[in-house]
Amino acid sequence: MTIMAAGDSFYLTTPIFYVNDVPHIGHAYTEVAADVLARWHRQAGEDTWLLTGTDEHGQKILRTAVANDTSPKAWADKLVKEAWLPLLKTINIANDDFIRTTDERHERAVTIFLQKLYDDGYIYTGEYEGFYCVACEEYKQLDDLMETETGDYAGQLVCKIHGRPIEVLKETNYFFRMSDFEQRLLDLYEKQPDFIQPESVRNEIVQFVKQGLADLSISRSSFDWGITIPWDPSHVLYVWFDALLNYITAVGYGVDDEQFARRWPATHLVGKDIARFHAVIWPAMLMAAGLEVPKQVFGHGWLLVGGEKMSKSKLTGIAPEQITDTFGTDAFRFYFLSAINFGQDGSFSWEDLSARYQAELANGFGNLASRVVAMVTRYFGGVLPAASDYTDADLAVQRVVAAATSDADAAIDRLAINEAIAAIWTIVDELNGYITIQEPWALAKDHANRARLGTVLYTAVDGLRALTVLLSPVIPEATTTLWRALGAELPLGALPAQVITDAGRWGQLPAGSVVTPLEAPLFPRIETVEP
Ligand code: MSP
Repeated sequence: MTIMAAGDSFYLTTPIFYVNDVPHIGHAYTEVAADVLARWHRQAGEDTWLLTGTDEHGQKILRTAVANDTSPKAWADKLVKEAWLPLLKTINIANDDFIRTTDERHERAVTIFLQKLYDDGYIYTGEYEGFYCVACEEYKQLDDLMETETGDYAGQLVCKIHGRPIEVLKETNYFFRMSDFEQRLLDLYEKQPDFIQPESVRNEIVQFVKQGLADLSISRSSFDWGITIPWDPSHVLYVWFDALLNYITAVGYGVDDEQFARRWPATHLVGKDIARFHAVIWPAMLMAAGLEVPKQVFGHGWLLVGGEKMSKSKLTGIAPEQITDTFGTDAFRFYFLSAINFGQDGSFSWEDLSARYQAELANGFGNLASRVVAMVTRYFGGVLPAASDYTDADLAVQRVVAAATSDADAAIDRLAINEAIAAIWTIVDELNGYITIQEPWALAKDHANRARLGTVLYTAVDGLRALTVLLSPVIPEATTTLWRALGAELPLGALPAQVITDAGRWGQLPAGSVVTPLEAPLFPRIETVEP
């Protein structure tokens, strides 16, 4: 094993999810985006690490547990086991680690971090008086609130995000000197313009910090479900301070310096609603501890249902299995990542999902694969013919494959996942057009065309080989099936071992490879959709 220098690895994180409830497709969206990026980087040969996990402390979880007549730890254990770990299987996430904030490894490293900040003078005792939203687990300013006129909470101040009443807090707490970092944060945003992406999220955060940063209350003493403040056991740590630290405690902070140096800093994928925590509080915490700030914070958009952010509390939550049970895991992954511009909001509808499944996966890609494999079986007994003289049309296919590979790779570097898929899809369109024009079924009627038929089918198959490699991070199941049908495993090795950035190099599949028909369509027709 080679030990890589700091910065050589690609360390990607998802937010850690609250275990007060079961996952919906908004949570699954972040997971699949992160998984596609991680699979791509892994297949590009990078030392990749994908971290996900659960956020288990704080009042929100405590209250849910009490409402369910159980302890917060027992509740978290149940939800992790029955809902959050199974989610990773449902949507086929190949994470390298799963951290829970109740893990001993996390609590120990958080304690080390806190004690350091305290010893270095970044934490002091103060009086907090203000508003708190338990659903957000966030201290609120008046700007964040509104007065409702109708409904259950008429006449009360509610949080603009959840529409639930806020609580008025008056406590003696420990404070983090966040205001000390205002200028350093602004300098960071300026020197590293892509630190926060996309641009819309960056602008909002720069504006927010320019208005001035207050110190942050980081402890609570009115309940005890959290990590104990090491120098004062009557307080527990504010849940966001605890949660953000997962990104370093999971990779050895304070315990395993070698692992920490190898992984840190990370790229954080988060929903835009929590980008502020990641791009303001988190780098300030790291600066205070003398650690490197993250490489990047990317705030993706929301999945909207009926024009509003989909959420369980608004009864618009859709469970991922409602989609995967009908359309399959690959279609789930493909749909959300290709149909939505990553970084912007996107509306979900069953009609759009069905239409894209049918047009793009079943008709566009699935049919192409079945037809090509069937023709090699029918005309060449399943043995891949060699190509002879390439014509302009054949060379055009080769050029499209090469360009798609480099364009997709460049898009992934910008985290533009939908653009990467669009680049890859040019191969599907090119191959479908190529087959229509070359008409291999017509060539097959006359033995004099045998060499030309061989070239056409070789071109289609090697094009499919490249397509399979490039699509494997997005639709790992169907591509694994196709890889076997193309007979690629024997000469080239397993699909995940293919170097993705090299997929565009023409002619990798040797003539003579054994192609076998697909037993079933990669994306079968779906007759009815049960929303
Ligand atoms: N526990 C915190 C994160 C701590 S990270 C140190 C949290 N958890 S959450 O479970 O409420 O949300 C996790 C992620 O799901 C957030 O990135 C949030 O933006 C995302 N989503 C929740 N609803 C969503 C949609 N409707 N659409 C897209 N993403 C959504 O916040």
